[in-house]
Amino acid sequence: KPHPERSQKAEQPGSLFSLTPFLPVHLTGTKYSCGSGGCGACTVMVSRYDPKTKKIHHYPVTACLVPICSLYGAAVTTVEGVGSIKTRIHPVQERLAKCHGTQCGFCSPGMVMSIYTLLRNHPEPTPEQITEALGGNLCRCTGYRPIVESGKTFCAESAVCQMKGSGKCCMDQEEKSFTSRQEKMCTKLYNEDEFQPFDPSQEPIFPPELIRMAEDPNKRRLTFRGKRTTWITPVNLNDLLELKTNFPEAPIIMGNTAVGPSIKFRDEFHPVFISPLGLQELYFVDSTDDGVTIGAGYSLAQLNDALHFIVSEQPKEKTKTYHALLKHLRTLAGAQIRNMATLGGHVVSRPNFSDLNPILAAGNATINLISKEGKRQIPLDGRFLEKSPEANLKSEETVLSVYIPHSTRWHFVSGLRIAQRQENAFAMVNAGMSVKFEDGTDTIKELQMFYGSVGPTVVSASKTCQQLTGRYWNDQMLSDACQLVLDEIYIPPDAEGGMVEYRRTLIISLLFKFYLKVRRGLNKMVRTTSLGLWDPHKFPDIPERFVSALEDFPIETPQGIQMFQCVDPYQPPQDPVGHPVMHQSAIKHTTGEAVFVDDIPPISQELFLAVVTSTRAHAKIILIDTSEALALPGVADVITAEDVPGDNNYQGEIFYAQNEVICVGQIVCTVAADTYAHAKEAAKKVRIVYEDLEPRIITIEQALEHNSFLSAEKKIEQGNVEQAFKHVDQIIEGEVHVEGQEHFYMETQTILAIPQEEDKEMVLHLGTQFQTHVQEYVAAALNIPRNRIACHTKRAGGAFGGKVSKPALLGAVSAVAANKTGRPIRFILERGDDMLITAGRHPLLGKYKIGFMNNGVIKAADIEYYINGGCTPDESELVMEFIVLRCENAYYIPNFRCRGRPCKTNLPSNTAFRGFGFPQGIVVSEAYITAVASQCNLTPEQVKEINMYKRTSRTVHKQIFNPEPLRRCWKECLEKSSFSARKLAAEEFNKKNYWKKRGLAVVPMKFTVGMPTTFYNQAAALVHIYLDGSVLVSHGGCELGQGLHTKMIQVASRELNIPESYIHLSETNTTTVPNATFTAGSMGADINGKAVQNACQILKARLQPVIRKNPKGTWEEWISEAYEESINLSTTGYFKGYQTNMDWKKGEGDAFPYFVYGASCSEVEVDCLTGAHKLLRTDIFMDAAFSINPAVDIGQIEGAFVQGMGFYTIEELKYSPEGVLYSRGPDDYKIPTVTEIPEEFNVTLVRSQNPIAIYSSKGLGEAGMFLGSSVLFAIYDAVAAARRERGLTKTFTLSSPATPELIRMTCVDQFTDMVRVVRRAPY
Ligand SMILES: Cc1cc2nc3c(=O)[nH]c(=O)nc-3n(C[C@H](O)[C@H](O)[C@H](O)COP(=O)(O)OP(=O)(O)OC[C@H]3O[C@@H](n4cnc5c(N)ncnc54)[C@H](O)[C@@H]3O)c2cc1C
Ligand code: FES
Ligand code: FES
Repeated sequence: KPHPERSQKAEQPGSLFSLTPFLPVHLTGTKYSCGSGGCGACTVMVSRYDPKTKKIHHYPVTACLVPICSLYGAAVTTVEGVGSIKTRIHPVQERLAKCHGTQCGFCSPGMVMSIYTLLRNHPEPTPEQITEALGGNLCRCTGYRPIVESGKTFCAESAVCQMKGSGKCCMDQEEKSFTSRQEKMCTKLYNEDEFQPFDPSQEPIFPPELIRMAEDPNKRRLTFRGKRTTWITPVNLNDLLELKTNFPEAPIIMGNTAVGPSIKFRDEFHPVFISPLGLQELYFVDSTDDGVTIGAGYSLAQLNDALHFIVSEQPKEKTKTYHALLKHLRTLAGAQIRNMATLGGHVVSRPNFSDLNPILAAGNATINLISKEGKRQIPLDGRFLEKSPEANLKSEETVLSVYIPHSTRWHFVSGLRIAQRQENAFAMVNAGMSVKFEDGTDTIKELQMFYGSVGPTVVSASKTCQQLTGRYWNDQMLSDACQLVLDEIYIPPDAEGGMVEYRRTLIISLLFKFYLKVRRGLNKMVRTTSLGLWDPHKFPDIPERFVSALEDFPIETPQGIQMFQCVDPYQPPQDPVGHPVMHQSAIKHTTGEAVFVDDIPPISQELFLAVVTSTRAHAKIILIDTSEALALPGVADVITAEDVPGDNNYQGEIFYAQNEVICVGQIVCTVAADTYAHAKEAAKKVRIVYEDLEPRIITIEQALEHNSFLSAEKKIEQGNVEQAFKHVDQIIEGEVHVEGQEHFYMETQTILAIPQEEDKEMVLHLGTQFQTHVQEYVAAALNIPRNRIACHTKRAGGAFGGKVSKPALLGAVSAVAANKTGRPIRFILERGDDMLITAGRHPLLGKYKIGFMNNGVIKAADIEYYINGGCTPDESELVMEFIVLRCENAYYIPNFRCRGRPCKTNLPSNTAFRGFGFPQGIVVSEAYITAVASQCNLTPEQVKEINMYKRTSRTVHKQIFNPEPLRRCWKECLEKSSFSARKLAAEEFNKKNYWKKRGLAVVPMKFTVGMPTTFYNQAAALVHIYLDGSVLVSHGGCELGQGLHTKMIQVASRELNIPESYIHLSETNTTTVPNATFTAGSMGADINGKAVQNACQILKARLQPVIRKNPKGTWEEWISEAYEESINLSTTGYFKGYQTNMDWKKGEGDAFPYFVYGASCSEVEVDCLTGAHKLLRTDIFMDAAFSINPAVDIGQIEGAFVQGMGFYTIEELKYSPEGVLYSRGPDDYKIPTVTEIPEEFNVTLVRSQNPIAIYSSKGLGEAGMFLGSSVLFAIYDAVAAARRERGLTKTFTLSSPATPELIRMTCVDQFTDMVRVVRRAPY
């Protein structure tokens, strides 16, 4: 039965067959985040019985792509089936929660299902299996380390211990070495002894009736008829052939990983589907002396297992093709897709990015076809891959199997690929290559090269290969081959996917890798097997310095140590402050019982909203024709600007576009209908006529040309900059581009707006960081007072700044629809719409002029910043203020001027994002420090040290601060990470390796918490004590996954001196705590903590007389006595706010309540031939003062660091020159996965004092983000090493993100010289 609230997904044309919407109404644990198989939030376990082997096969799938009809005969286990609070939680759920592997919890059910499924197949998995199982699951909060760690607790050996094989537990060692210090350091964030044991024998059995069904000898053809489509499952091969004859155009649905996305996102329609999934004839492996035949029905995971088996059985020389396939099978998509996608589906769908087809073709595979006409074989060759009609399947034919011949002795086969991310990302270029030599020689007998992602299909470089036949395998051949292949494979300048020069460089760089591999292979073969028959000198080995070019980076299981201060042994045991307390909702997250807005059961009469957004960046609206849309079934109304009863343009933010559109993605109108499918269908039928307007401003440069700004310049200054430039040894000038970032919170923006019967009241449920803002905008849009609007936020599935201002806009849009229709509105943004409409972090252009002495002392700096604010004000002015105020970072520069302005462009309006400008702005400071170092022949660390604040000082805006914790973090980071020794080791490595380079960088940080305006720092709380002694705490902060409520319970527990179990925190809403400020700026726990503390202290004071009378009494007794004495057991608590101020006219003020300091050191290895990098190790030292909850704080630091690392390296938003966002989902926007995080990841909380904040703590929600830039600068260091070796000039500009494209094109060499150098268009 479809889940009505989710029927939006169910009835989208074609997705009729997707499992997610069919999960029963009450099973809301399975989450929906992308709908494209790319995030793993919807992971469930499918179990099938194989009547042939009599075995049950469990595998993970992404429910959003699983056709419901394909599950006939299968058992599906959702997170609810694994365990629940109501019955018993499963060890997987318990350990994920207790290891702090959940923050917002939106990804957690998917994580649970991935680990659970692994355990069903491997009750004692290896750490590598855990990492592999999690490769298809995205988490935007945690940084993955604790998730992997929770999985590792199931491994046989104590895999959690980080000192593998040392014989001693690392924890003991570390604790011992710190005991001598004043503050004892702890390393255990959870207690393994608390875990219930895992007993694999206690899992639910496979339903016996499904076994009976599977073994039923009288099975019949199955037909499911929908309104527009029919699904047919043939009973046997003949039946399949019959169906294929009758419905030649009907696709064969196997994994649905190619067909499903085409239907969903490209509006493909098929009236009939044929699904032979499970048909025995398609599942087999047949191994002969010459090769192996594998059934088309084998999933890629089964193919992987089969190939591993063959490789273990056959001599190495026969298995080169299999090895190449296995390498790519490890990183192709994630475990879920690999378990769904089939070999037949892969071969036939022939995606241009296919990782397997180029290798199969290079390995001379053939395809066995069958139809009613009989069987035939076709080669899986270039013509087939290029889809030439005569080499294709006939429409009535089915692929039965694929035959892959063994390789032979004088035959080499390789697969090569590079993607934005190591796993679960389409290749940017991949290749399958093979060469056969005349026996005993290096004369090419047959050469084959196939490239993926260089055109609309996989292409064969057949002409090149022909021309090289007969040539020797030597450098001259390589050089000719590169030129030939570049001539043959043409990527036009306007090719889809862009990156033309990079991809052309990769074509020859990958060829070079293959060349090296073969040369080494020939040499090795002759050396090890020639027995004197051949002369090894005729087959020279490659230089030792080239060897590391051969291998891709291995995927390691991450590990690391987290250190924090131990709780004072004299602290009362009941007091939870300072302890690593588990997130208040963690268990509910992992059981799927935590309720998000989309999980709220359907409300009577509710309507779904779909958006119609502008397709033009700047245009006049000539006409909005809604007639066709309104006539469609289920459509209740179309809502436009005309329907806004109040302000449609409030504070410069436009709810519905009126008269003109100012960006692509602006909401023009919405359609309300009974299902989302109907709403979406109708939205497509709304016809809008535009007339383009000038100017269309997309980039910062264009905005500067047009003088287009959102606000006036902000400036701070000290000393005399102009004068100082006259007295310095050197001056450098430069520009740094830092691109934007998508929040990619796992829960997209979701709003439920419910109009009430009376007094125009409106209730909104939504995940937001700023309820007051929502209330304000809805009130303005509806023209009613704010007291009629109630906002409720139980939790948000991640926010990161993206839910500060945008929910207000979307809330107003929904409220107007609810007001017009008089019915509840459910508004859930699809991932693509969310990415398009809500925008993200501001791209930045920084220009600097730096004057310095030859010894590295910087005397003068003149910095200009511009950010791309987009089309409306949002928070761009504030972001710029923050950039300017914080831009000096940790360095004292006596003559310093910094100015900045937000640009107004025709892009969707950019908004708050973790770090609020700091992560972009400070890259500029670090970039000029690095540039100065290069000019002075010093290391960046030396220049940082020279210019770093050393004693109590004033910032440029004249605020006094003491940098002592900064110095400590910096020093400890350098020492504890063994920076100098590792730097030397990296230099050694670099000397020995030409094509791989290592780099290290340390970045210091002086970050801020809070706002430069006192009233923004205020907070309130409401605490009730009930007569049974239980306590309900409410405050104005929103739970976004950051553990705010958990910390507030800790505060209340300490203040009231009662156990945490007495305290409940239900939700945040505007009716209990009005006018709350945003939960942002790292100050959620700071300010709300003070308010909760205040309320508790008031209550405690009121109870004092009662306690004094009965000091030995219990809490319950005191409460009951207090009630009898008419003592008020409820109070508000209040925090006026930190006293801050900023006078922009003077450029002075105590802008921030306090500073947070930190440092991080990262080491990377870069593959100069592909641009890939591997993060080997990161050490973070963060000044946490006194941590209220080290688990929460370390979680924030790790999560922010990984988000920052993504920002600085692989996350890349792509726009067209016309301002159309291309990257609208996980397929084309890559956030880090588990394979991206540091192999070794150490975090230490450094103790300091911060008396101003509650319990002397510090707000750490954002600070870790910037520390991710240590990866950027480590890459810079590695690239600089490569460039130095190639004799290139010292200084070069490395902008952010340092994508593989940028890295590769900056590591200039003979291959980049062969193609024109790329320049990235800045946005
Ligand atoms: C999130 C995601 C990530 C991915 N990442 C990668 C990646 O990194 N690298 C990569 O190479 N690929 C990747 N893919 C693509 C994936 O490999 C293919 O979609 C998959 O192999 C197709 O197999 P399927 O069984 O799902 O095909 P289906 O979608 O079921 O079918 C695809 C086509 O094949 C036809 N077909 C299927 N079986 C037969 C048969 N036996 N005889 C005749 N016709 C048949 C169907 O008619 C249909 O036209 C990814 C896909 C997704 C969704
Ligand atoms: S929602 Fe299914 S994979 Fe993202
Ligand atoms: S906890 Fe993983 S996405 Fe929030």
